Amino acid sequence: MTSRNFPPGFLLGAATAAFQIEGAVDDDGRTPSIWDTFARVPGAVLGGDTGDVACDHYHRMPADVALMKELGLSSYRFSIAWPRVRPDGGAPNQKGIDFYSRLVDELLEADILPWVTLHHWDLPQALEDEGGWLVRDTAERFRDFALTTYDALGDRVRHWTTLNEPWCSAFLGYTGGQHAPGRQEGVAGVIAAHHLMLAHGLTIDELRHQGRADDVLGITLNLTVPEPFDPDELADVDAAERVDVFWNRIFLDPILLGRHARGLEERTAGMTWRGQTWQEFVRDGDLALIGAPLDVLGVNYYHGDAASGRPHPEPELLGSRIVHPPRPVVSPFPGGADITFPRRGLPVTGLDWEVQPEGLTRLLVRLRDEYDAPPIHVTENGAAYPDTVDADGRVHDIERRAFLADHLGAILDAIDAGVDVRGYFAWSLLDNFEWAYGYEQRFGIVHVDYETQERIVKDSGRWYADVARAGRLLD
Ligand code: NOJ
Repeated sequence: MTSRNFPPGFLLGAATAAFQIEGAVDDDGRTPSIWDTFARVPGAVLGGDTGDVACDHYHRMPADVALMKELGLSSYRFSIAWPRVRPDGGAPNQKGIDFYSRLVDELLEADILPWVTLHHWDLPQALEDEGGWLVRDTAERFRDFALTTYDALGDRVRHWTTLNEPWCSAFLGYTGGQHAPGRQEGVAGVIAAHHLMLAHGLTIDELRHQGRADDVLGITLNLTVPEPFDPDELADVDAAERVDVFWNRIFLDPILLGRHARGLEERTAGMTWRGQTWQEFVRDGDLALIGAPLDVLGVNYYHGDAASGRPHPEPELLGSRIVHPPRPVVSPFPGGADITFPRRGLPVTGLDWEVQPEGLTRLLVRLRDEYDAPPIHVTENGAAYPDTVDADGRVHDIERRAFLADHLGAILDAIDAGVDVRGYFAWSLLDNFEWAYGYEQRFGIVHVDYETQERIVKDSGRWYADVARAGRLLD
């Protein structure tokens, strides 16, 4: 690969999320989130890991910002813990707010652009007890939490993402049950998705009225490029189509085109949750709120996917050694019990995810062609590999470095094709709590020793620092 320049002003940053790094779950008035509860369900998280300590970032924040400065990052994307800022989803909590205010000050002092994600999955447990994302009220409570946060940070923060990967909150949370709150209730995922999008829309509406003209408002979606495993097999073509509806279009169509996803009605025909169809949860005016124009679209991209509607040998038989959380496997795609994702012989990461950088180029081009998307930032991309600290005290993570380089190259290809991509955030700054996989899987460009909390910049992090400083994709 030859070196290639990023466009002027292109952000090269790193991302984290509150629950995955902060720890300090009882400090300064924070109350439990659904992930505190879920992590204590036997079998929900590998090794019984919890977020209680994580990277102890809540107590080490200034040193972590100093590390970002050392890495030359131009931006840092982090999320706000709702249960710190409005514990139990109730009244504002000044001590919780102060933490993020100090973080923003530290970042600005270090000349790092703060990029706030308002919600990265840590819904207050008290709100889940009242129905969670299956009730409309949660969307309104989210808007209130967003406004509290904006009131506190809006004088210094211009970049606001409402939700991170609502697909996971909705479909892993309420259909498949692999994520908190761990519910396996079929088409409930579609209802949760609607309320999440409503939360987004209500918040955008308020911020447009109350915020500043130069605010950059958006949402982050995890999108994929589902291909039929065998394009000549009808069952595989249908599986890829179902995945596209329930993964991509379910969010893209309402948010960018202001209409329900093409194909959703047909594919949910006859499905009800507690006797109601998802359409009964949609009110007049919802789509207009959800489809309001955005300044930025955040895209998280990790892997390629070949979908099939037929059984295939388990990955273990093909040599995979990845251990999954033991909960019963339920498809996160309503009506998609038969869907499998067989391997195609592409390289895979430590999580057994297919490495397919050119899929990112195709995705970005699709967003432009099919959706006329607003300017895009790749708000997450990265890979878990089984890292080791070598005798020289370093982490020689050659595969991660190649992964990052190949995906940055894929973005440059999309830019060459005329797509407006303005930034990239490596996932993640630090090794952290990888949800149902606990601490076993490491995504950081910085290694964390969870016993001592020592941070070691991995070789991928050193290389990325060089790239960020040069503004150029280096060999
Ligand atoms: C996307 C999620 O936003 C993040 O929280 C997670 O750790 C990464 N994917 C890796 O799975």
